[in-house]
Amino acid sequence: MILVAGSANLDFVVRASHIPQPGETVLGQSFTTYPGGKGANQAVAAARAGAASTHMLLGLGQDSFATPLEQSLTQAGVVQHIVRTQAATGTAFICVSDDGENAITVAPGANAELAPQHLPSLKGYSHLLMQLETPLATVQAYAAQARQQGVTVVLNAAPAQSLPSALLELVDILVVNEGELAAVAQHQGSIAECLQRLHVPTVVVTLGGRGCCARMGDQFVVQSAFPIKPVDTTGAGDTFCGTLVASLSQGLDMAQALLNASAAGALACTVAGAQSSIPTQAQVQTLVTTAPTLSAENSQALRHYCGL
Ligand code: RIB
Repeated sequence: MILVAGSANLDFVVRASHIPQPGETVLGQSFTTYPGGKGANQAVAAARAGAASTHMLLGLGQDSFATPLEQSLTQAGVVQHIVRTQAATGTAFICVSDDGENAITVAPGANAELAPQHLPSLKGYSHLLMQLETPLATVQAYAAQARQQGVTVVLNAAPAQSLPSALLELVDILVVNEGELAAVAQHQGSIAECLQRLHVPTVVVTLGGRGCCARMGDQFVVQSAFPIKPVDTTGAGDTFCGTLVASLSQGLDMAQALLNASAAGALACTVAGAQSSIPTQAQVQTLVTTAPTLSAENSQALRHYCGL
């Protein structure tokens, strides 16, 4: 059983030819709202990946923005522990460019109200999955509780920031992208060097269209990316995290978990929106079994890129 403790946002998304530079105004093409937030996206991804049971602790306001967020989690089968606050439900303002890239600004609202005393009993959970869109002190307090009770602590250190070593010491599995890795490791060297500098038993770094790399102790595993034509990359990293944790909680080894997470993340880039783009377990298995075998050269190039 997995507990995700984190953010839920209503995403306000404008598609435009390109993401505006500071001071620039861009005339967009379309506007849509989608259920999002890194925590809620990861909970939906874990549930769709077939995790035995996925629960989520989240903060919501008393406004109408909360309704589609609750509905989306319910439809995915996520059991919710809602902290209802006076603050507004979290929102995210997203510009998605024609090539599928995005720029995101988050107004945390009720996400910032999650506090140490809101953590439910951890009895029965194998994994606690968190991100950094809720207060750092709360994340650290939850990690300490989980560590004490033998629950595996997984932290997706997004959005990027440097982290206190007292928090890192409580983390069993850290998941980051390249920018987040540099921020957490506070090092400009190769990927392998950055991974080795972190005193966390397992660190996974996602490398966009190249693939991903995990360090477990002093062992490295790489997984090349599934080639896709991106429509919208919003939520792809969250899909990766949720699927990874679901796969590990089902007893798969890291190589198999990285394969599933990469396939799910790739599929999430081919559909617009965050939770709307997260594939089912069946869709992921179809891609894994039907995609042309990723070549040994790809994997060699990825190892070289990582400095392995
Ligand atoms: O990772 C994507 C998510 O970041 C979006 O859904 C948005 O809400 C922000 O939290």
